[in-house]
Amino acid sequence: MKLAVTPLRPEHAPRVHAWENHPDVLRWLLHDGVTLDEVAARAASPPTPQPAEVIHHVIERADVPVGYLALSAHPPPPCAWGSFELFVGPEHQGEGVGREALARVPGLLRDWRGLEVIRIGVFEDNHRAVALYKELGYAVTERCWFPKGGAERRGLLMSNNPDAFARRPIGFRSR
Ligand SMILES: CC(C)(COP(=O)(O)OP(=O)(O)OC[C@H]1O[C@@H](n2cnc3c(N)ncnc32)[C@H](O)[C@@H]1OP(=O)(O)O)[C@@H](O)C(=O)NCCC(=O)NCCS
Repeated sequence: MKLAVTPLRPEHAPRVHAWENHPDVLRWLLHDGVTLDEVAARAASPPTPQPAEVIHHVIERADVPVGYLALSAHPPPPCAWGSFELFVGPEHQGEGVGREALARVPGLLRDWRGLEVIRIGVFEDNHRAVALYKELGYAVTERCWFPKGGAERRGLLMSNNPDAFARRPIGFRSR
């Protein structure tokens, strides 16, 4: 399967908004939901300023949108690193889209900003995502708590270069 990863356009906003707030997607994301205006702004505005710059993409398969991928760039310390947020539309999950999109992330971050080190946060009970990340070479660097829905949930920080982040928390409470 060949996926296209292209900048988010305004016409994608309603679909991405619906996916992002769908219970089967939202429960695994580190935020508590987004408005349509917020999603539309991602397509309309230039990348946000430092310290964290973000670019937003739609993932398409045969010209049909099937998922969303945001890339972010973070300055030192301890080194410049990239991160991403990925979700596949519930109706397209389990078809290999996530695996292929994840395989594209290192090249996209390298081409965008020359970023080689990647760090991601994931809920510990997101077994599908954690297994996929491990398969693709990410290892757990830290166990932490992420705020979610007014409570805290167990989370993991993972990296493709664990040595870069040994004992370097990024603001989430460690556990
Ligand atoms: C996690 C996610 C990105 C994976 O994408 P996907 O396109 O559904 O996954 P793929 O089809 O590429 O499958 C990847 C692996 O996930 C597992 N998987 C796929 N479908 C599954 C299902 N229905 N149930 C359990 N595991 C499943 C399999 O282990 C699969 O590996 P395999 O190909 O060896 O069988 C996607 O499910 C998703 O968007 N989930 C909700 C949001 C989310 O969790 N994002 C990540 C937050 S950190």
